[in-house]
Amino acid sequence: MGGGGVRGFFDDRFVRNYDRCLAPLERVAFAEARNRLIRKATGLVLDLGAGTGSNFGCFVPPVRRVIGVDRDIRMLERSSDRNRSVPVYLTVADAEALPFRSGLFDTVIATLVFCTIPRPEVALAELVRVLVPGGRALFLEHVRSSASLVGFAQDLANPLQRIVAGGCNLNRRTESMLDGAGLRIDRRSSRFAGILVEIEAISAT
Ligand SMILES: C[S@@+](CC[C@H](N)C(=O)[O-])C[C@H]1O[C@@H](n2cnc3c(N)ncnc32)[C@H](O)[C@@H]1O
Repeated sequence: MGGGGVRGFFDDRFVRNYDRCLAPLERVAFAEARNRLIRKATGLVLDLGAGTGSNFGCFVPPVRRVIGVDRDIRMLERSSDRNRSVPVYLTVADAEALPFRSGLFDTVIATLVFCTIPRPEVALAELVRVLVPGGRALFLEHVRSSASLVGFAQDLANPLQRIVAGGCNLNRRTESMLDGAGLRIDRRSSRFAGILVEIEAISAT
């Protein structure tokens, strides 16, 4: 993210306004979903695309420690005011090439991230690689709706969304990507015409 031109102009605003823009959605849906998902986290946790640290306040023991990674240091810098009940360490890294050994993490959480990662299938393979066998992958993602008219509207709005929202896509089919990725789905739920999905999965590798 970042750079000049039109994209850079909007990226700067996206970073600065992210928390404020998300606040209504946090109240309506995200905060509750984060808490529900993060209750399943244990041990050493990777928060993939941690952004401004929206998840940090939810982590409590049996989580021991959280490593938050993001490709954009400006997003991570905005997380410094978040309450934390367990230690959180931050590093700039690309989800498509994680700087961690295989099988390191007990839990990986990805919230509102796979919409933006340029090569999501590469990042998913990395996520599975760094999970300990039997470890938990927790996802909160907005995806292309299962309702065809809504999905069509998302397709139409997507080019503009990508420009104004840091490369975020409204119409990713993130769930179908999980098939064959080495994860066994434990729980899945969706709301808002199938746009917002929560998935708990176990590493089967
Ligand atoms: C919509 S924000 C979500 C932030 C946070 N997880 C949340 O729930 O609010 C998406 C984040 O993913 C990060 N991101 C996108 N692609 C990435 C990549 N390839 N590697 C690491 N982080 C990435 C962006 O920089 C951004 O901070």
